[in-house]
Amino acid sequence: MELKNEIKRKVECFCDDFASSSILFEKAKANSLNIGVVTRYFAALEVLFKKNYEILESLVENKSLSEELRQYFLIKLKEEKNHDDWAKNDQVKIHKIRHEKVSKPQEDVFRFIKFLDEYSKKNPEYFLVYIYVAEYSVTILGPKWMSFLEQLFEMKKSDATSLSNHITLDENHHGEALEMIEKIKLEASKKDLLSFLDKLLREYYGFFDGFAFDRSI
Ligand SMILES: [Fe+2]
Repeated sequence: MELKNEIKRKVECFCDDFASSSILFEKAKANSLNIGVVTRYFAALEVLFKKNYEILESLVENKSLSEELRQYFLIKLKEEKNHDDWAKNDQVKIHKIRHEKVSKPQEDVFRFIKFLDEYSKKNPEYFLVYIYVAEYSVTILGPKWMSFLEQLFEMKKSDATSLSNHITLDENHHGEALEMIEKIKLEASKKDLLSFLDKLLREYYGFFDGFAFDRSI
């Protein structure tokens, strides 16, 4: 199968699997999540978005990148500016209006960020794959997750901007990263990219499913 289609198919399988088998979605369907899940989620997004921006900053400075890929990361860098503020503001809101305490990000959040950082340094093309996974999966799973937040906690889209703004943005351009993968002359082999994708999807699953558990106690 063509690399582009294989990547797309794997992300779609990941989303199907998460929607049907993750503890997070199971608990949401059974109405057994408490609001702590939302505070942990926003706290993690803030850290993740900050790290994404830092990685993009270093990638656009990377002289060994092809101009095409560097320009793509530059566009992303401009787009991603201050997205961590969305997550920060969502936390301020949940604290002020609902009087919920703000969570510290859990350990597994830092594990995922370290994984992303290490692989992006190994080969920036891995970060391109990650961008696709992040944007396409929020397009597929984001609306369902938003509707759980609405049903379970009576949240509005304006209470969860770090999620709702990404759903709106990413549905319009999630295919761009995949087009780049197809267009540029890749340094990494197809086998290495797919093997990274499998690892990434496992880590990404754990990152989101982890919000179902309060490990801060
Ligand atoms: Fe973003």
